[in-house]
Amino acid sequence: VLGVGAGANYLASDVPAFVEFTERVVYLQDGDVAVVRPDDYAITDRTGAPADRPVETIDWAPEAAEKGGYDHYMFKEIQEQPVSLAQTIEGRVESGLDLSAETLTGVERVQFVACGTSYHAALYGAHQLRSWGVEATAHLASEYSVYPPPTENVLVVGVTQSGETADTLEALSVAGERGATRLAVTNVVGSSAARDCDDTVFIRAGPEIGVAATKTFSSQVATLYLLAREVASVVTDPPAADALNGMAELPEAVETVLDGSRAARLADAYLGEDGHFFLGRGNGVPVAMEGALKFKEITYEHAEGFPAGELKHGPLALVTETTPVFAVCTGRDAGKIESAIREVQTRGAPVVAIAPRTMTDIVEVADDALTVPAVHPDLTPILTNVQLQLLAYHAASSLGRSIDKPRNLAKSVTVE
Ligand code: G6P
Repeated sequence: VLGVGAGANYLASDVPAFVEFTERVVYLQDGDVAVVRPDDYAITDRTGAPADRPVETIDWAPEAAEKGGYDHYMFKEIQEQPVSLAQTIEGRVESGLDLSAETLTGVERVQFVACGTSYHAALYGAHQLRSWGVEATAHLASEYSVYPPPTENVLVVGVTQSGETADTLEALSVAGERGATRLAVTNVVGSSAARDCDDTVFIRAGPEIGVAATKTFSSQVATLYLLAREVASVVTDPPAADALNGMAELPEAVETVLDGSRAARLADAYLGEDGHFFLGRGNGVPVAMEGALKFKEITYEHAEGFPAGELKHGPLALVTETTPVFAVCTGRDAGKIESAIREVQTRGAPVVAIAPRTMTDIVEVADDALTVPAVHPDLTPILTNVQLQLLAYHAASSLGRSIDKPRNLAKSVTVE
C-alpha cells in the first residue's frame, strides 16, 4: 500500500504502519510498480502501462494510531479493548453481520484459514460451530495449500487482521480455484483479503500497531461468535440466544479485568523458568495456545500451549518445579482442568488458574489465580485471554524486551 502525505509519501505492507502520518491510501494491485518521491508518485501495471489507482481515505482517527501517553502500543491496545470490542459488536447483535445473500447459500460446512494469532481465533470459531452441530475445521493457512481439503458446499473463511498475510491469501486463492465461496474476516478496509474474497466482515478494532496482536484477537473472537451463530442458524437449528444477549456486557467485563488484574505481580513471580505451559480444554484451548504465543513472542522465554488432555502424551516429561503452568478454565470441563492441575502439581509445578471467579474449585486448587467476571462460557475466552495478554506484557516489560517490535517478527508477513 502507498500512503499519500503532504511532502512525503509512504510504502508499507499495510496501513497501520503509516496511519499516524496520513489517512490517504492507494491500494496497489499485484504486479504494480510504484515510483515514489516525496512530492509525487507514478504507478505502472504489470505490462508497464501507466495505472490510475484511486486514492482512498481510511476512517481511522489518527490519534488511534498514536501511543497516547502509554509506554508501548501493545499496552495501549490492550487497554483499548472495552472500546474496540464495543465497536465490533455495535448493531450486530440485533441486525447481524450484513453478509451478502449468496454467502451462506448452499453452505453445509466451514473451513477457516489463518496464521498466528488469527489461527487461534479461527480455532475458537471452529469450536463454536461444532458445538452447534456444524462441521467446521481451522487450518493453518500455510498448510492448507499443500493438500487442500474438499471444498464442496464449504464456506472458506480467511481470518486475517491485516488482510495481507501471504499464506492466508494463498490459501484463499486455492480455495477460490476450487470453487469455494470465500469470506474475509479482517480489520483493514481495502486490504487484499477484503478485495479478493466474495464477501467481507470487518472486525472494526481500529488500527493495531504493536506486532503482537491483542485487541484484534478479541474482536476476531467476538466477530466469529456472531458469524458462527449466523452459519448455524442456516445449517442446523438456531442455537439458544443467551450468549448473544450477553455480548453487550463484554466491554464492561473486559474493563473489570483490566482494572483489577494481578497479572503484573504474577508475571514477576514466574520469570526465568525453564518453560511455561499453558493448558486448556474445549474453547479454552485457543486461549491457552494464544497465551503461550503472546508470552514467547514478546518475552523470548519458552512457552507452549496445548490441550490439557495432551499433557500425558509428552509434555508431562518436562514438568518440574521450574515449569509454571497456566491453566485456562472458561467455565466448562472444570473437572478435567482440575485433574490436569493436580497432575502437574504432583510433579512440583506451580499452577496459576485463569478462570471465572465463580469457579471456586479451580481457583482454590491452584497455587495462584487470575480471575475474570462470570459471563457465558462461550464468551469467557475473551476475558481469560485479556489476563494472559497482561501477563505476557508485564513479563516482557520486566525483562526490558522490545515489546512493540519483538526480534525477528513482523506485523504483516507478506512473504510465504
Ligand atoms: C504475524 C504477526 C502476528 C499475526 C500473524 C497473522 O505473524 O506478527 O501477530 O497473528 O502475522 O496476521 P494476520 O494479519 O493475518 O492476522
